[in-house]
Amino acid sequence: MVDSIMVEPSGPLRGVLKAPGDKSISHRALICNALARGEAQISGLLDSADCRSTMCCLRQWGVEFEESGDRVVVRSPGQSQFQPPNGVLDCGNSGTSIRLLSGVAAGLPFRNQFDGDASLRKRPMRRVLDPLSRMGARVSDADTAPFWVDGSAGALSGFDGEIAVASAQVKSAIVFAALRAEQPSRIVEPGPSRDHTERMLIAMGADIEVGDATILVRPGAELEPQDVEVPGDVSAAAFWMIAAAMTPGSEVVLPNVGVNPRRTGVIEVLRSMGATIDTTNPRAVSGEPVADVVVHGSQLHGTMINGDMIVRAIDEIPALAVAAAVSQGVTEIRDAAELRVKESDRIATTAELLRAMGVTVSEQDDGMRIVGGDLRGGTVDSHGDHRLAMAAAVAALAADPESGPTMIQHAAAVDISYPTFWRDLDALRHVPAL
Ligand code: S3P
Repeated sequence: MVDSIMVEPSGPLRGVLKAPGDKSISHRALICNALARGEAQISGLLDSADCRSTMCCLRQWGVEFEESGDRVVVRSPGQSQFQPPNGVLDCGNSGTSIRLLSGVAAGLPFRNQFDGDASLRKRPMRRVLDPLSRMGARVSDADTAPFWVDGSAGALSGFDGEIAVASAQVKSAIVFAALRAEQPSRIVEPGPSRDHTERMLIAMGADIEVGDATILVRPGAELEPQDVEVPGDVSAAAFWMIAAAMTPGSEVVLPNVGVNPRRTGVIEVLRSMGATIDTTNPRAVSGEPVADVVVHGSQLHGTMINGDMIVRAIDEIPALAVAAAVSQGVTEIRDAAELRVKESDRIATTAELLRAMGVTVSEQDDGMRIVGGDLRGGTVDSHGDHRLAMAAAVAALAADPESGPTMIQHAAAVDISYPTFWRDLDALRHVPAL
């Protein structure tokens, strides 16, 4: 299969672009509604390979989906009526599917075998399997997929303690198991990971109390199906925010983007680099903060990205590293060792991408140091990582026009979270100057 795309450098980006549905909220709208008995309608659901993985697994447990356009009706017998799957629960490339559904599986009285693609098979799973086993689920002793989770040993006990990593996937898995436990659970978070699971379950009637860094889950409440309107994905919109912010003369409007404070690190980092970004028309949609984001391009300067900011911008670091590459001065990224266990080792693959385009970058165990300057067109590889393919496209647009186009290999990886990415790129670059 030919899976490369050539991207020419571009002048300023201009236009209005509707970002695809939020991936994290789409997974949760499907899973949380599957736990409840009855019917709910989801609009704006992200239609991408990762969300399809979640739907395929839920179907194996007996959940039905009726799709029309960007609306999906979820019809479920409820978690207590789930059936044993016919085969392996194949989560494809999706870390969110495999980790969240493992938490659900801990509350099911049969064995569930999980697997995924070559990238997912490399990613750490003990972070989820260990707490589930402490709660009384039987789990295989594998470190990575394939593995199994079996809740048939009897009732789960409550979880009490701090989770090992600031990860919404791990937290959500424990919350799903905690809903089926015999005692209440107290989950302490080491950092501010996204809270979409808690928000959605509370809206569905779960007895969950959220403090600054602690989540209390009291089991037993009946979940009610809940219609969900999925906002635009800030992590997808981020590619256009970054591309526009770093190109003087750009003006891009991104309507209806989710601006949950645990996801908006990218906006704050860009502002700390001197970017002009306004969020207008703030409102709440299905329990999530939403706004229109307006970005004007300018010359950016280097910054430091570390601490809790990493958790709040975790998926945007590769593209922010591209912005750093055309900024004045040096950018340091620290405390970001989690990037090494994403869809690719994103410290290594981002550094490789920047070097291939002429940037001076040094890699550390938990981050990188990027010296701002010019980007040159070159040949780069996404390594099958969707966010690397899109970060490469942002770099290609900003490359010195004299240096020519950039060839991006394994470009179809965008299908994981943003299938219309290449079309949207053309729409923004082809709009004539205002
Ligand atoms: C996600 C959580 C994050 C993020 C991923 C989606 C989620 O992963 O990187 O893309 O939807 O819960 P971690 O929880 O492993 O940090």
